[in-house]
Parts: sequence; C-alpha cells; structure tokens
Amino acid sequence: MPERLADMLLDLWTPLIILWITLPPCIYMAPMNQSQILMSGSPLELNRLSEEQRILNRSKRGWVWNQMFVLEEFSGPEPILVGRLHTDLDPGSKKIKYILSGDGAGTIFQINDITGDIHAIKRLDREEKAEYTLTAQAVDWETNKPLEPPSEFIIKVQDINDNAPEFLNGPYHATVPEMSILGTSVTNVTATDADDPVYGNSAKLVYSILEGQPYFSIEPETAIIKTALPNMDREAKEEYLVVIQAKDMGGHSGGLSGTTTLTVTLTDVNDNPPKFAQSLYHFSVPEDVVLGTAIGRVKANDQDIGENAQSSYDIIDGDGTALFEITSDTQAQDGVIRLRKPLDFETKKSYTLKVEAANVYIDPRFSSRGPFKDTATVKIVVEDADEPPVFSSPTYLLEVHENAALNSVIGQVTARDPDITSSPIRFSIDRHTDLERQFNINADDGKITLATPLDRELSVWHNITIIATEIRNHSQISRVPVAIKVLDVNDNAPEFASEYEAFLCENGKPGQVIQTVSAMDKDDPKNGHYFLYSLLPEMVNNPNFTIKKNEDNSLSILAKHNGFNRQKQEVYLLPIIISDSGNPPLSSTSTLTIRVCGCSSDGVVQSCNVEAYVLPIGLSMGALIAILACIILLLVIVVLFVTLRRHKNEPLIIKDDEDVRENIIRYDDEGGGEEDTEAFDIATLQNPDGINGFLPPLLTPIFMVTHRTS
Ligand SMILES: *[C@@H]1O[C@H](CO)[C@@H](O)[C@H](O)[C@H]1NC(C)=O
Ligand SMILES: *[C@@H]1O[C@H](CO)[C@@H](O)[C@H](O)[C@H]1NC(C)=O
Repeated sequence: MPERLADMLLDLWTPLIILWITLPPCIYMAPMNQSQILMSGSPLELNRLSEEQRILNRSKRGWVWNQMFVLEEFSGPEPILVGRLHTDLDPGSKKIKYILSGDGAGTIFQINDITGDIHAIKRLDREEKAEYTLTAQAVDWETNKPLEPPSEFIIKVQDINDNAPEFLNGPYHATVPEMSILGTSVTNVTATDADDPVYGNSAKLVYSILEGQPYFSIEPETAIIKTALPNMDREAKEEYLVVIQAKDMGGHSGGLSGTTTLTVTLTDVNDNPPKFAQSLYHFSVPEDVVLGTAIGRVKANDQDIGENAQSSYDIIDGDGTALFEITSDTQAQDGVIRLRKPLDFETKKSYTLKVEAANVYIDPRFSSRGPFKDTATVKIVVEDADEPPVFSSPTYLLEVHENAALNSVIGQVTARDPDITSSPIRFSIDRHTDLERQFNINADDGKITLATPLDRELSVWHNITIIATEIRNHSQISRVPVAIKVLDVNDNAPEFASEYEAFLCENGKPGQVIQTVSAMDKDDPKNGHYFLYSLLPEMVNNPNFTIKKNEDNSLSILAKHNGFNRQKQEVYLLPIIISDSGNPPLSSTSTLTIRVCGCSSDGVVQSCNVEAYVLPIGLSMGALIAILACIILLLVIVVLFVTLRRHKNEPLIIKDDEDVRENIIRYDDEGGGEEDTEAFDIATLQNPDGINGFLPPLLTPIFMVTHRTS
C-alpha cells in the first residue's frame, strides 16, 4: 500500500519530494558516534540510496535538509505519506520509538512511531497555511529515554494552481478622447492570483481581451489597454464595453482565468462645426418696441458637447447692423437679436441681417477640416404701431416782456401724429404747471397767449407743460416742457438802498463828506444799473450842501461850509432825485435827513438833539408796535376796572365798554394826530367827578409821548 502511494507521488513530483533532515554535520564528522536521524520524503528513495550516497548528494545538490514537502489540496483514499524519520541508531530492532510534536502534530500529521512514517491526515491549503514547524525525536521503546536531542524540521505545503486570477478593483471605467491616434493608452487593470508567485506558473498571469475588439487592445504582460482603431468618433458611438481576461499558468491551456469589464467613454473634442438649423429666419417687431427687447433667437446646432459646442454669434452684414445687435446666450447656446436703436415704420419697414455663429474653442487639429462657423439670413419686418404725437422740439424756450399785453401771443408749439393715418392734434396746458392760469393755448394751432399780467420782479420763469392729444385716439398723448422767461421792462424807479441817517458835526470842515448813499432798482437792465443823482432844481445852488457822484454808482454828500450850529438849525432835509438809465428813464426823490451834532475834536459824534431825532423818527416800527401793545394791555386793565366798578354799581363816566374798545381801535389806525389825540383824551376815561380816578398817574406821560408819533 505505501509503495503504491509512493509510486504515484513519484510520477508527479519526483524531483521535489526527496528531502532530508539530518543532525548537525559534526555528528557525521565523528563516525564513532553513529547517532543521527535520517529523514526521507519517500521510502523508495530511501531504499535506493546508501547512506554514503545520501551524504554525497546532500552536499552536492545543496538541499535544505530540514524541510519536507507535502502537496496541498491532496485528497486520496488514504492519508498521504509526507516522509519518514529514521535514525542510524535504529538497527531494525524494535527498541526505538519516534515521537512527533509541534504544529499540527497528531491532528494534521501522524507518525508511525515504529517506522517513522509521517502522514498528512487532513487536506491542506497552502493559501491558508504554507508551512508547519515540527519537532522529531527518537526515544527508547521501553524507557522512553531520548536517544538523541530533538530535531526541528519544517513541512512546507506545496502549491498547486487552485486559485484563479481575480480583478479586485473591477469593473473599471476609463475615458479617452475621441479621434485619438491608434495605440493611445486608455488605462491599465490588474488582476491578482492567490497562488504562490515564486513557485511555478500558478500565479503567472497573461491578459487578453474577450470583447471590445477591434476597438481596443491589451498588452498581455502589463495589462495596458490601448486604442486599436484610430479616429473613433464620439458622435458615432460614445461608450464601449471591454471584457478583459487574466489567465494564469502563463496563459497556457489548463490555467485558471478571471474576467472583468472596462467601460470606455470617448470624451468630446471639437471636431464638428456649428450649423444653423435654418438658413433663413423671419421675425417681425412693432416699431414702438422698447430698446433692448429680444426680437428673436437663432440657433446653430453643434454635434459636439460642452464648450466644444459653444458658439459666439455676430451680425456680420446687412442693412440693419446699426439698429440691431446679437448676443450669445451660452446657456441656451443660441443668439438673441435685440433692438439697439428706435425703429420707425414710417421710415423703413424691413431689415435684413446676416448672422454668423462661430465656435469659440477651436481645436487646431481639426481646423483644416474647414471653418468652424456658419451663417444664416435674418429678415426683420417692422410693424406699424399707433404712436403718440411728436412735438417739433423736445423742449421750448419762450421769452415775453413783462409789460406784454393780455392775449398777446407769446409763442407756439407744434406737434404731429407720426402714424400713416395721421390724426389731428389738440393742445392744452397742464394746469398743474400753471396754477395761476397765467397762460392760455389755442387748442388747434398751439399758440400760447398771455392770460394775466406778468411781473418779472415777482417771477422770472413760468415753466409749464403743454399736452398734445390725438383727436382720434385720446390715449395717444405727448407732453412737452415749455419754459417761458419774462424779460425786464423798466417799470421801477430807483431809490435809496436803505434808510440813511446823516450826522453833521458842528465843528466839521467845509468839503467834508457827511454821508455816502447808494441806490437800488428792482429792475434788471441788460447792461446793469447806472444811476444819476441830482438835487431839486430849486436846490441846485444849496449854500449848505453839495453832492458828488462816485465811480461805484454811489453818491457822497458834502458840507459846503463849517458854520453849522445846533442852536440855529438842528435838522436839514436834503431831497435827492435818483434816476435810472432805462428807456424811458424812471426817477424818484428820496430825502436825506441831516442832523447837526456836537462832536469831539476828532469828529466823533457826541450829542445830537435827542428829542428831535429819537422820538419823531428814531423809533422803529417794531418799537412802535411794542408800545402800542403796552397801551392796549393797559386799556384792557382799565376796561376790567370799569367792569368791576359797574358790577359794584358805581357810577361811571363811560357808559359802556364799547366806547373804550372803539377808542382803542381808532388809536391803532394810522391817521391824523388830532383825531387820535382826541380818541385818547384821558379825560374821556376819567371820572369827571375827579373822585376815585382809577388810572394810575404813570400812564399819562406815556400817552403824551406816543401821541406825538402820528
Ligand atoms: C425753468 O426753466 C428754465 C430753463 O430750463 C430753468 O433755467 C429755470 O431754472 C426753470 N425755473 C423753474 C422755476 O423751474
Ligand atoms: C442853509 O443854512 C441856513 C442856516 O445855516 C438856512 O437858513 C438856510 O435855509 C439853508 N439853506 C438851505 C437851502 O437849506
């Protein structure tokens, strides 16, 4: 039985399984000590070889002495013989017993303790455990005493091709540009084989393509996949399925194989020009369409994708190049035609454009195939639209003299309906812009007339809006601004620029300038103001004062002598005629009051006649009003007194309250002094009996003073 098994093994693995394990060489060096364990992978071999031959062979062939081999995956009817232990001490007598220990001893490997035969009793898998370390020992059969030291050895599980190649990362995806040249590398794949890569060809892989020819090829050793056809066209076929096989045993028959799939996608290159879907496009557009409105879209198709399909659109010719523009819509990949300048149906009713679509990203490899652009014709028809009236001018500026007669024509606006069926037009003034109804307009001819008198000194500009309405369609309205400028007419006389008050020193010198006055005129003559000053004709030879015109249009008043004296005359009134340079000129007379005052030696006014100037004209309007307010307040108090007294049934000289009020009102009036004086005669408020006079004495002087103001 063991011999049959050995024969079988020999046939298959003869060169490999004759293995030896020996004691260290020193034992051989001492022939006196014959103690050694001999191991043999095969009983046959053991029989054939003498000990001497074995030693020779060992040194000659360089074997590893402490290894045994056993074939993996062996499954026979009997346990497989791995090898035999043998010691030289064993003369055949049954005195010796072999003991095995270590990895799998007893469970995987069994030893016949008499013969030393080692059997594997289980099926082994190299890919699971490739080697086992065991220890062999020879002991005395009876005493169990070791006859020599234990000897360690290894049982190696020998590979058979029991694993197929596997593509662990599959299925694969790869891309390659379309139109690539033959042999362009696409990708590479890798298969793995679990079998022993160093022993035999079980893990020696060779790659081939099962599906995907003739488009792709694979290099058998490196598994680099390349294009096998030139100029594959993405637009014809975009995706290819390639089935790749890896076969072990160097690709020889009987080897194991594994497959995977590779999906190759061709990426786009710009190998197709754009092409307009139509060679002629028709669009129509109303003439009143807003500028910038999209009028139509043209599209050039491109078989490429992404930026290779992108085209820019241009208007390259035609009679509407100035009025229309085209913009490229990269999203929709079309061209949008827009209006750039206003259309007028009445002027031109149709336009023709030549538009071009050109690829933006040209691939120089294919530019020799022809221009990557295309052209088309666009016809645009302008449609008539009902348009509002159009004024002859976008704005009007009219001028009118301020003294213009009522109903005189200031100017005219005109407007027309641009439509073919021209409608008559009516004009009106937007009254919001002429609230005072200063102007009228003739609804038919647009003539603007003056309705109320003008005054340039009140308002220089009257800016109004004129409305034009089509009679046939009242919704067609246009408006135009009309600025009316009022021109000056000399209708204001010059006068003193302010209320001047002059002081004259008693000790002044002749020729001294007493006062400088200037004049103003509300008018606005074109060349500016030029005033003429003169004394009244009867005063031309005034012995006391003279006048002198200054460069700046002002006037100096000079004293003619030095003998002025307050005692003699406190105040001089000097009327001055001021005349403008208008045509005709206007003039007025203003009177300058000159007071004679006492002055210090250096000409500083020190004392004038206080009463003379403080009271009559020294009070300002504000001061007068304040005093009047005080008086009214006092009178109210008086009235209250009177009322109180009446309630006490005390007789009063004033019959009723009305009288008092009337007096107050009359006092307030401007007017002659005598009446006012009478109205404020204190006697009327006083009790004639002189008993219980209720006015405080304080009031009396105030009344006395104020009445002098009139
Ligand atoms: C009226 O229009 C004129 C000219 O446009 C302009 O100079 C002026 O300031 C305007 N006046 C008013 C009050 O709007
Ligand atoms: C000039 O002054 C004198 C007194 O100084 C006066 O009597 C005379 O009326 C004055 N003449 C004029 C024109 O005011």
